[in-house]
Amino acid sequence: MATQLPDQHPIQTDAVRSAMEAVYNWNYEPEIDELRTLYANALDRQWIGMKQLDWAQPIDRAAFSDTFSIGGIPIHETEFWKALPLETRWKVAKGSACFLLSNFLHGEQGALMVAGQLVAAVPHTDGKFYAATQTLDEARHVEVFAAYVRKLGEVQPIAPALKKLLDNVLATDDWKKKAVGMQVVTEGLALYSFRDMRNATKEPLLKELLTYVSRDEARHTGYGIKYLSAVVPTLSERERAELEDFAFECARLLVDSRGGTTMRSSVLELWRDAGVDPGEAFQALAKERTTIASALQRSGGRRGPIRGFVIPTLKALDLMSERSIAHYDEMFRANFGENFGSVQDDTHGLPADLEAWVEEGA
Ligand SMILES: [Fe+2]
Ligand SMILES: [Fe+2]
Repeated sequence: MATQLPDQHPIQTDAVRSAMEAVYNWNYEPEIDELRTLYANALDRQWIGMKQLDWAQPIDRAAFSDTFSIGGIPIHETEFWKALPLETRWKVAKGSACFLLSNFLHGEQGALMVAGQLVAAVPHTDGKFYAATQTLDEARHVEVFAAYVRKLGEVQPIAPALKKLLDNVLATDDWKKKAVGMQVVTEGLALYSFRDMRNATKEPLLKELLTYVSRDEARHTGYGIKYLSAVVPTLSERERAELEDFAFECARLLVDSRGGTTMRSSVLELWRDAGVDPGEAFQALAKERTTIASALQRSGGRRGPIRGFVIPTLKALDLMSERSIAHYDEMFRANFGENFGSVQDDTHGLPADLEAWVEEGA
């Protein structure tokens, strides 16, 4: 007998019109070997979220509240945090995590749809094969994040800036823009943030979940890097500049809180709800700069996902001209203060082996 759908089904849908060409390729032989290899690796490393993670274990509240960091800043190491009652710490950690993980979850849904689009839109057979494996990976990520948030609390609405970013990437008719916006900027941010959170948290189920997911994300980012480094050199200057601008616009939506719509601004609201005044909290945290700095030192320093990962990727792909550098610098200074330095002077590159980098610090 067929399943009876609920009266209101599906609930809460939303849509964006997307334009793209579905491209056939009649050549079935490998053309971009690195992508064919990545596809083979992806097949080899599949996992089953509902079987391989131990969903029977309850969330460890104490571990959760004791190892809470936000945006990679190890707040839990400060006296300010330790002095808060356990109940308040749990409320802040749970509220912020529900919000952040919900947005990870929504981002995963976006990634799922974009990966599906890439199967049709990319012109190379190897690129289509790989995007097919990523589509399955992203379905699994949606599944496991939804299950974890359900255990923790309730799914929170998507942050407006992230929604705009996903809309833009889904709507563009250019597969290269989809690849830059999703595989480089969004996946780069996700990989860096998931790994950061995985290294910080002592909550066993979350740690395990993020380890599995980050391994997949390392391939997803690798796909963007490998594919685009083959394609960007073949573009005209105008096409290259357009891609560069698209990347900046995506990064701006994730970083720039001047519109008050980023995740950072929403998380601070949640602090207020839990009874912690964000202004006072920041003053108290500012006094503990040295503690935070040494905790960061131990975890390998902190540049944040855009500066630590996305920008080096864009530089490696030749998608970062002086024009863009000026845009990034202006944005970082407006959001994080004048002495934030120039992205021009950042000399760090990407980890040579992304999969090995994911395992570090676990
Ligand atoms: Fe994902
Ligand atoms: Fe991904």
